[in-house]
Amino acid sequence: MKHQFEHLTASTAELLNLSNDLRIREVQSERWVHYPRAKAALVAMGRLAAHPRTTRMPSLAIYGDSGMGKTMLMRKFCEDHPPIVDPRKGIERQQVLPIQMAGKPGERQLFAQILHALGVNQGLRSGAVDMQFAVIRLLKAIGLQVLVIDEVHNILAGSAREQRIVLNTLRYLSNELNLSLVCFGVADAREAISGDAQLARRFDELTLTRWSSTPAFEELMISILRNLPLREPSVLTALSLRRILQITEGLTARIFRLMNDLAITAIENGVEKITDSAVDQWRPPFDAEAVAA
Ligand SMILES: Nc1ncnc2c1ncn2[C@@H]1O[C@H](COP(=O)(O)OP(=O)(O)OP(=O)(O)O)[C@@H](O)[C@H]1O
Ligand SMILES: [Mg+2]
Repeated sequence: MKHQFEHLTASTAELLNLSNDLRIREVQSERWVHYPRAKAALVAMGRLAAHPRTTRMPSLAIYGDSGMGKTMLMRKFCEDHPPIVDPRKGIERQQVLPIQMAGKPGERQLFAQILHALGVNQGLRSGAVDMQFAVIRLLKAIGLQVLVIDEVHNILAGSAREQRIVLNTLRYLSNELNLSLVCFGVADAREAISGDAQLARRFDELTLTRWSSTPAFEELMISILRNLPLREPSVLTALSLRRILQITEGLTARIFRLMNDLAITAIENGVEKITDSAVDQWRPPFDAEAVAA
């Protein structure tokens, strides 16, 4: 059914019934915004989740600067593939498991992260071999298909020997369980993964480059505007779009921050849309120099 506010997605239009304060809370709440480039990444990850088990499972590395939306993508992918939980027995099946490569990388640390992500808090002080058996047993039992690892560049924080061990362990898990890996990280992550040539060969790569004046950026802006609960449609000129790119240096996080700030102002002052002059007057809290540039 068509809704009254055609400049918004249906779920965003519903938010217009809320009070101003609640609408502002919604803007601040980091609601997922679906934009075409994110969709392409989610489709690539989804293919891995649907891939039949083979001896050499394909994997995917997604690189991007800090603030390009990697962790948001990871969360969305996991939300789209939720575990099947039996209220009495716990997790029954889980296709996708997210972990973070924490500060000090190592074999035991990796196993501990996996156990923690599974909600298992026993055995975290066991020896590496026992932990490995526990991880293999549990991941087999839930039928894990994709292990998703955020902050993969942290592997580089270890010594050469530690790095080799972590990469070996990832390759071992992938082989033993026929798992696909999805790794997120900044550009350095490529170097981390390339430390194991055999592992690296299984990875397709996707890079989230900073936004520039391209149709993809316009699509992002259209998606953002369709998801901001404002009563009036916002139409921004090419000049405003360029200015947004300049102030934000093409970083997804800053673009969202800017647009959310402007939407909140538009709710507060009753203008109910984002205007070129509001973009022009906006001053970033993150880097005053970018404005002067
Ligand atoms: N699809 C999206 N929908 C809504 N907000 C988003 C989206 N993508 C990114 N953002 C905004 O950008 C911010 C930064 O995203 P995120 O934390 O995923 O970046 P990152 O690439 O993981 O950065 P880092 O490398 O520093 O961890 C988010 O907190 C959110 O405000
Ligand atoms: Mg992140």
